[in-house]
Amino acid sequence: MSSLKASVAGERELSPPVIVAEEVTKRFRTPGHVHFPSPRSFRFRFEKPTVKVALEGVSLAIPRGEIFGFLGPNGAGKTTLIKTIVGLLAPTEGRCLIRDADGRAFDSHTREAKLKLGYLPEQPYYHEFLTAEEFLLFHGRLLGLDDKEILAKVPPLLKRVGLTQARHQKLETFSKGMLQRVGLAQALIHDPDILVLDEPMSGLDPIGRREVREIITAIGETGKTIFFSTHIIHDVEVICTTVGYIREGVLMGAGPIDKLLGKTVRSMEIRFSLADGRDPREVPALKQARKTMDGWVIEVEADANRLEYDVQEVLRRVLDGKGTVRSVVPRRSTLEDLLFTGSAPL
Ligand SMILES: Nc1ncnc2c1ncn2[C@@H]1O[C@H](COP(=O)(O)OP(=O)(O)O)[C@@H](O)[C@H]1O
Ligand SMILES: [Mg+2]
Repeated sequence: MSSLKASVAGERELSPPVIVAEEVTKRFRTPGHVHFPSPRSFRFRFEKPTVKVALEGVSLAIPRGEIFGFLGPNGAGKTTLIKTIVGLLAPTEGRCLIRDADGRAFDSHTREAKLKLGYLPEQPYYHEFLTAEEFLLFHGRLLGLDDKEILAKVPPLLKRVGLTQARHQKLETFSKGMLQRVGLAQALIHDPDILVLDEPMSGLDPIGRREVREIITAIGETGKTIFFSTHIIHDVEVICTTVGYIREGVLMGAGPIDKLLGKTVRSMEIRFSLADGRDPREVPALKQARKTMDGWVIEVEADANRLEYDVQEVLRRVLDGKGTVRSVVPRRSTLEDLLFTGSAPL
């Protein structure tokens, strides 16, 4: 696992990472219980104390300016790691560091570290009787900003999250999507370098998801580092530059997404037809052909050494048979293929 300690951006890394997790392990202990006899049952019952390992030696290093997608099924440990990164939870072993623009590193639980990052929890609490502006004032004050400073930031912030019209509207009238967007504005109130978002798209309809994705992408373009979790692979494929995958508390891998997806051709799909409507399955190299609406298709599996040779062989046979090649399309792996076939060392 030592290779995972390397930066997730691989060769693109130029400056020291801004979010670092070093061998983070988190164990939750539940105390034992004694259930006393009830009128129905005359026995004492004992429940043993348990230990739940939510994170096991997780090491990560996210360079400045990356949009990092933290993927994993429910219960994998995403929220637990996020809470240790933002300093809400102390790791049982290991530590998390946040680095500022001058390159100074602060342990996650320090105030310096907390001021460097904006955080949107998985289940934020919204004071429904506040308006969008009052909500931002409330959060800005918690961070020690003065009202004048906050009020100057409210219009551009609300504009950025598409809520300009809702400035004086009470949160109780907001849709789930609007609440999520005002939550994003809250995380940005002190103009932090780093944004940590726990499942920012969860519970939204497809349009809401897309709006939040677009806002995250736009924020990423301003140079901020964004760490967000999701259990939906598509979210990651659409907006991330780097990705990590966690399962049962163990980081399975992390790396730049273009490297993972871009280079892995899974197969080549060749669509063609033969002269005089001949059936290609009579031709040795074309035995695997399947009929389609307008001709035939062959999928040549990507065997690293033979792909080029096999594709050329199919094309040659088609042309020899006076056929027409309609298209040759590489099929690339999706993140899903990589994660679930386990073929991704990430
Ligand atoms: N406070 C806690 N006490 C005991 N177990 C917990 C606590 N918080 C989380 N867990 C357990 O740790 C595991 C990881 O949880 P979590 O980090 O919330 O997962 P995710 O965010 O990936 O869905 C789960 O099995 C969860 O039940
Ligand atoms: Mg979670």
